[in-house]
Amino acid sequence: MPWLEVSILIGGVALLFATLTRQFWWWKTIHAVFAPAAYALLKLQIRPEWYLLAFAILFLFYRGAVSGQIPLYFSNRRSATALIHFFSDNPPARIIDLGAGIGSMVCPLAEALKSTRVNGVENAYLPWLIGRLRTARLANCRWSQGDFWKEPLADYDVVYAFLSPAPMPNLWLKIKREMQPGTLFISNSFQVPELEASFVIEVADARETRLFCYRV
Ligand SMILES: C[S@@+](CC[C@H](N)C(=O)[O-])C[C@H]1O[C@@H](n2cnc3c(N)ncnc32)[C@H](O)[C@@H]1O
Repeated sequence: MPWLEVSILIGGVALLFATLTRQFWWWKTIHAVFAPAAYALLKLQIRPEWYLLAFAILFLFYRGAVSGQIPLYFSNRRSATALIHFFSDNPPARIIDLGAGIGSMVCPLAEALKSTRVNGVENAYLPWLIGRLRTARLANCRWSQGDFWKEPLADYDVVYAFLSPAPMPNLWLKIKREMQPGTLFISNSFQVPELEASFVIEVADARETRLFCYRV
């Protein structure tokens, strides 16, 4: 096969479909260059063990993307500040961040809301380890490694999540099943399908983050 031409053709077709389905420019770029880049890498004749090593390192960071279509990205500082401001008059007793990453939300909340017990659960090993180091000095914080689907939610006043569209329907079932009436579920950016949020906190940041708040 003329692999160079074939890889360029694959990239072109992928770009066409990405354009027809109106994907973001960065997705289009990834679709366009993926096959030619794979061909170019093959030409370098890198030993397969290095690919395995790269996969292992990526897996340690992005386990959530493989197991549940939930990749790793972080809540920004302004979202944390907006929540701290929101809770300032009436801090909740217990908050948990489901899929807590490296603690980008847990750390500022625990630092600002001293009377609140702030917990984080994360299943990917390297983000968990980074979060463990960051939260070690915070007495009101519990940082655990594990699957948030197995975390009982009955004792929390507030559950925070910044995940992806994929888990939202099942997560809302879990929330309804386990959380007490009157408690709050806050989802950064991703709405529960076909359910209007009780209210929305608008964050004044560049990506115009919206925190969808659902009173249980
Ligand atoms: C988009 S990140 C959000 C990180 C953090 N909550 C924040 O706001 O900065 C989602 C995180 O959920 C984690 N995750 C995905 N599935 C999980 C699961 N079943 N149990 C625990 N964590 C999970 C991912 O590894 C990732 O770190």
